[in-house]
Amino acid sequence: MAIVETQGPSPINPVTFTTSEAVLDILNRLPPEAEAADRMLPAECYTSPAFFEFERQGVFARSWICVGRVEQLANHGDCISAQPAGEPIIVTRSNDKIHAMAAICRHRGQVIPCTGNQKTLRCPLHYWTYDLEGRLIGAPHIGREETAALRRSERLPPIRLELWHGFVFVNLDPNAEPLAPSLAKVEPFWAGYEAADLVGIPPKLADKPLPWNWKVHVENFTDAYHPEFVHRGTHDFAPSVLAEGGVVFTDMKPGDNAIVRTVPMLKPDGGMMRDGWGENPAFPPITTISAAQRQRLTFVMIPPSMTMVFAPNAIAFTLISATAVEETYASSDRQTAGGWLMPRSSVELADFRERAAMVLEGGAKIWAQDVPENMGMQKGKKSRFAPRGIYGPLETTLVQFNVWLINAYKQAAKP
Ligand code: FES
Ligand SMILES: [Fe+2]
Repeated sequence: MAIVETQGPSPINPVTFTTSEAVLDILNRLPPEAEAADRMLPAECYTSPAFFEFERQGVFARSWICVGRVEQLANHGDCISAQPAGEPIIVTRSNDKIHAMAAICRHRGQVIPCTGNQKTLRCPLHYWTYDLEGRLIGAPHIGREETAALRRSERLPPIRLELWHGFVFVNLDPNAEPLAPSLAKVEPFWAGYEAADLVGIPPKLADKPLPWNWKVHVENFTDAYHPEFVHRGTHDFAPSVLAEGGVVFTDMKPGDNAIVRTVPMLKPDGGMMRDGWGENPAFPPITTISAAQRQRLTFVMIPPSMTMVFAPNAIAFTLISATAVEETYASSDRQTAGGWLMPRSSVELADFRERAAMVLEGGAKIWAQDVPENMGMQKGKKSRFAPRGIYGPLETTLVQFNVWLINAYKQAAKP
């Protein structure tokens, strides 16, 4: 695994934004955290362009955002482009270190692309060139002495970066708290998985937005109440409600950045097959995890950018980004393809492609059931009759998400 260069505070200008009257009006109608369980958030949180801009600057630009996997940065010169909070950035591998930096040229601010693997980073407009750590190395026709001076002073601003189990996270806030402690509650669910020599298969990135707010998307993911009704035939094997047992929630403490639920499977070693969750999955079970892990699914939401499902034969993950109040991109086996961690022994199976196709078919069936629900939820938010509805006992994760949001909004609104 690559060694990460831990960046200190970077020379990024602090993000400043004004909180408009429209946003203040919405913020004033948020319940206190202690009452987050009582009612839904105001519908405008999901429909107001001004509120989305507030979230983008106040939440996304201050959160840890997953932009990919270390497998995408395996070799010197590998790079990833991403746009956390709409900000173009590049993550590079230079020898044994990974670096994140703003992809904004120090000349006149053109966006610098990266194409997967390259020796240097080059601005397309006037060919100012940077090394893989972001230091300026060349500026054509600027003059020898001037260029020498620029080489001393100019570099692409570094951005905070942290690896978590091979996931590459960045944070535009130079003063953000470290990521790993905020995900401590997820650690027990990793037990035994990495002993199986997991290989990360990044998702194909979505190129079309989904027409709903990002919160509608992750609420659908984390909602233990709806599978019984929406996912008939595809999710019955992993029910939230059973005569004995059923969904289990985890505590949410201040500073936690993970919202977790676990559901039992009717039999051990189930997983994703052609018709959704079932008894004879496409891939064999991971033998290094416990018997308890081999009979359950754990759904982990890491707001605002990622979701994961720990299954007996794989960990599936989704990368999420939002570009407008009703434009959400999701990349995973539900929406595009890939987004898996699997044992090398599974990835190297001769019929891997056929098996992966089965997973995609099953995932697509579940997703097809969710799409109309998300469309309907977004439409309902815009209705004059939109409720400040209540939450039932199967919706603990939604209440936890509300607490997370209320806290993030309050931090963002601080002068
Ligand atoms: S803007 Fe990048 S080289 Fe001119
Ligand atoms: Fe669903």
